[in-house]
Amino acid sequence: MNRRKFLAASAVAFLAGPARAARDAVEVYKSPTCGCCGDWIKHLRASGFEVRSHDVPDAGEYRRRYGVPGTFASCHTAVVGGYAIEGHVPAREIKRLLAERPKAQGLAVPGMVAGSPGMEGPRSEPYEVLLFQRDGRYVTYAKYAR
Ligand code: CU
Ligand code: CU
Repeated sequence: MNRRKFLAASAVAFLAGPARAARDAVEVYKSPTCGCCGDWIKHLRASGFEVRSHDVPDAGEYRRRYGVPGTFASCHTAVVGGYAIEGHVPAREIKRLLAERPKAQGLAVPGMVAGSPGMEGPRSEPYEVLLFQRDGRYVTYAKYAR
């Protein structure tokens, strides 16, 4: 089996563990000057999440604290239901994560992708939401076309 198929099969294998209420608040750590972080928070709230936003001098410190490998870095790190959420991850994938409860450290949309939630504008690019482990392994959790 090729690598993609193997990763897809692994993703299914991770879908274990009891379902649990998705009503936990999302704790977001961001720099005070990050505009797109604020827009992502609006997107989460519009999707029904309770969000607590924390302005911090060094968001990278929280990325490390919550086990997000540096290769997946974006502008903010959030925590909900025991998972780390790095970057502009769509709310629907966070809801799916909390419903499926896979064995993983969290979800990431690395970098700052034009067109992702909170990064809307004239341009948009396709991107993937990654389900990652602390050690840097990951599978594609969702794909978004432009
Ligand atoms: Cu951003
Ligand atoms: Cu941000």
